[in-house]
Amino acid sequence: MSGCTIYLCGFMGCGKSHIGRMLATEMGREFTDLDRTITQREGMSIPEIFDKFGEPHFRELEAKYIRDLSEGYVVATGGGALINDRTAEFARRSGLSVYINADFETCYERIKGDKNRPLVVSNTKEQLRRLYDTRAEIYRRNSMCMVNGSVRDTIITDEIKKLAAYFEENGHL
Ligand code: S3P
Repeated sequence: MSGCTIYLCGFMGCGKSHIGRMLATEMGREFTDLDRTITQREGMSIPEIFDKFGEPHFRELEAKYIRDLSEGYVVATGGGALINDRTAEFARRSGLSVYINADFETCYERIKGDKNRPLVVSNTKEQLRRLYDTRAEIYRRNSMCMVNGSVRDTIITDEIKKLAAYFEENGHL
């Protein structure tokens, strides 16, 4: 058995991809990235999708393509994916959704100036902080558990492995 699919969520720069890759290696799983799936299938970069079709369309693509990533993978979702209740509901029904809660300054240092993240390009630091605060509540509500993302990466992966083992054993947290 390949184990439950693990969906990592949290604000841009919280470490979803880095932690996801480490976790997948340690657990002998495949790692996949929802943003990468979208850009590959659509043949466009994320800034191009936002420019041409707008953010709501991108949210629809997240809701659509997350359905292809439920085969026991470790999935790094985009920072806005699980904000959408429909996408979050899918993740909840098909695996374990984990909110990586890193503090805003840590996230911001990793994402500032990134031209490949449309929300970073179009928002000031203070606007991003407000978005972070608004979303924190939604990540909590829309995921099944939360880990501290402001500690060493090995501590984060150990914590998620424990949660996944319990979830696979008991079918709930
Ligand atoms: C977004 C986060 C990005 C990407 C897109 C929108 C968001 O992913 O999906 O730019 O709304 O927070 P990362 O969280 O991997 O940066």
